[in-house]
Amino acid sequence: MSRTTLLKRGCGVKPIPIVWTEALSVGISELDDGHKRLIDLVNTLFENAFSEGAPRDMEKAVARLMAHTLAHFAHEEAYLHSHDPAACTRHQAEHIRLFAELEAICKRLLREGGKELDSATAAFLRQWMVAHIMSHDKRDSALLLQAS
Ligand SMILES: [Fe+2]
Ligand SMILES: [Fe+2]
Repeated sequence: MSRTTLLKRGCGVKPIPIVWTEALSVGISELDDGHKRLIDLVNTLFENAFSEGAPRDMEKAVARLMAHTLAHFAHEEAYLHSHDPAACTRHQAEHIRLFAELEAICKRLLREGGKELDSATAAFLRQWMVAHIMSHDKRDSALLLQAS
């Protein structure tokens, strides 16, 4: 890969994939499954940003990540709402904020040709996912587990 290509890609180093471990478990298998899928999709985005594949592959990866994020958030909110509507409202506000951040990143990636994933963006996506699971998802899943 040429130096020009490396510079164009912002960092030249493919991000280390995110690995789901038991430390990320929220104790509810169907929510864990959703998180594993989201992690796979972020890793696919990392992969596509540094592959020689067509921009179309990046567009697909972005579309899948956004669609699955929306579906996962809706599923999680429905789950929470059935047990604790107030907790659901708080959690939903965080999901809205998170999705707006994801949407802005994805739009920028596509606008810039789908091949511009710099290390700061990769780090942000990793943090975006892991921090939410470790804080909000774990806290509210614990409420659900206590109630059941
Ligand atoms: Fe959540
Ligand atoms: Fe979640």
